[in-house]
Amino acid sequence: MQSGQSDRYQAGRNPDAGKPLRHPFKEIVQRFSDPALVADTVMRTAVKTWDLISPAEFSVLYRQIRTHTMCSNARLRALYRGVRYVIHNDVQGDLVECGCARGGSAALMALTQQRLAGHRPIWLFDTFEGLPAPTAADPDYEIADLFTGTCQASVEEVQNLFDRLHLADNVHLIKGLFQDTLPLAEVLEIALLHIDGDWYDSVKTCLENLYDRVTPGGIIQFDDYGYWKGARKAVDEFLEKRGIKSPLQRVDYSGRFLLKPEADRTSSTGR
Ligand SMILES: C[S@@+](CC[C@H](N)C(=O)[O-])C[C@H]1O[C@@H](n2cnc3c(N)ncnc32)[C@H](O)[C@@H]1O
Repeated sequence: MQSGQSDRYQAGRNPDAGKPLRHPFKEIVQRFSDPALVADTVMRTAVKTWDLISPAEFSVLYRQIRTHTMCSNARLRALYRGVRYVIHNDVQGDLVECGCARGGSAALMALTQQRLAGHRPIWLFDTFEGLPAPTAADPDYEIADLFTGTCQASVEEVQNLFDRLHLADNVHLIKGLFQDTLPLAEVLEIALLHIDGDWYDSVKTCLENLYDRVTPGGIIQFDDYGYWKGARKAVDEFLEKRGIKSPLQRVDYSGRFLLKPEADRTSSTGR
């Protein structure tokens, strides 16, 4: 460990700094001793291999974006099904992603709607400067902080991907922290919301600003519920606070989605 790093673990930016901090290496080892994570990793590899050769529609679309995404195939497939679901069931609203990084999962959503001749606006929110730092509200702060500044991709890189795949019509790339951009976002009605922002504050901000804009019967997919404890905490707290009883549907080790209950129709009219 370098000395700068060591100081950080001892002093820490975390207000819980008085407590002994677990070294990230131990945290990683502990995570990989979780049989569910190991099983997920094996499954992920098998499914990825299949999608590299399969002629199925999802696999064909996946191969066009696979080098631009960090999302698992299972979560990408859930997004693919989600886009098909909202279009087939005429759930009104746009397609929104908070946390697009290099644009892979967003391009998959766009390709899916293109196959169905859909023309819904697509809104992509990101710093386009990499992950911001987690905060003390993230229970796994020490390991999460190692990822600060990663996932970096520029607006131009994402725009180029969309241009190359002929998807650029009606795509809005909004640069900045969710905390600054979402309260002012012009998107009013959302059919599918993909939240892939990793940290507690990021996920909480997405839910607080966008949940009420999701059409009842629409879909909210969470990428990080299983991997990042802060993301899970933000989702659980929000559902509890809002008294949302609909179950989170499991996609894989980390991914979950929620079908927004019809009973929330009243809360989505205040826009
Ligand atoms: C794991 S990456 C997204 C991966 C992407 N969906 C894919 O297909 O590979 C998470 C992204 O969320 C963004 N992000 C996280 N918190 C944010 C915040 N508070 N404001 C803006 N962007 C944020 C990061 O910049 C990063 O690009």
